Parts: sequence; structure tokens; C-alpha cells
Amino acid sequence: MYVCNCFGVTETQVRKHAADGACTPRQIASACKAGTDCGSCVRRIQALLGRGAYPTRGLVDEGRPVRAEQLDEAA
Ligand code: FES
Repeated sequence: MYVCNCFGVTETQVRKHAADGACTPRQIASACKAGTDCGSCVRRIQALLGRGAYPTRGLVDEGRPVRAEQLDEAA
């Protein structure tokens, strides 16, 4: 099942990135771009990660995608 339709990223792929150490939607985005286009999948990714709103609460609440410059900040 696709989590991110913009980049064709599946739930399995997100879980694998999470197992490899990605623990925020931003880190998932850094690994596979999921969440960097329309942003509508960020909430689903967050749910898969089993996290609360922090630290990407603003992004999710405003429905904005994770931007490339934010990925640079996280690196
Ligand atoms: S569905 Fe993931 S960025 Fe659009």
C-alpha cells in the first residue's frame, strides 16, 4: 500500500527506513523524498513512525510538505 503517492513510496519502504534509523517524517523524507511534494502523506508517515506531533507539528498542522532546505537543517 502506498503511503506517498507523489513518489510511489510504500508503507513497507517507510517501515524499512524507520528500522534503519529514521525516526521523524523529516528523516523519512531525507531517505526517500516521501512528504516533499504535496505533503498530504506526512501525517500517515508520522502515524507509521508511532510518534506524537513533535517535532514536525507545524508542518503537519499546516499541511505543508517538508522542504529541501529543512532537510539540510536536519542533516
Ligand atoms: S503524497 Fe507524499 S508528498 Fe504527496
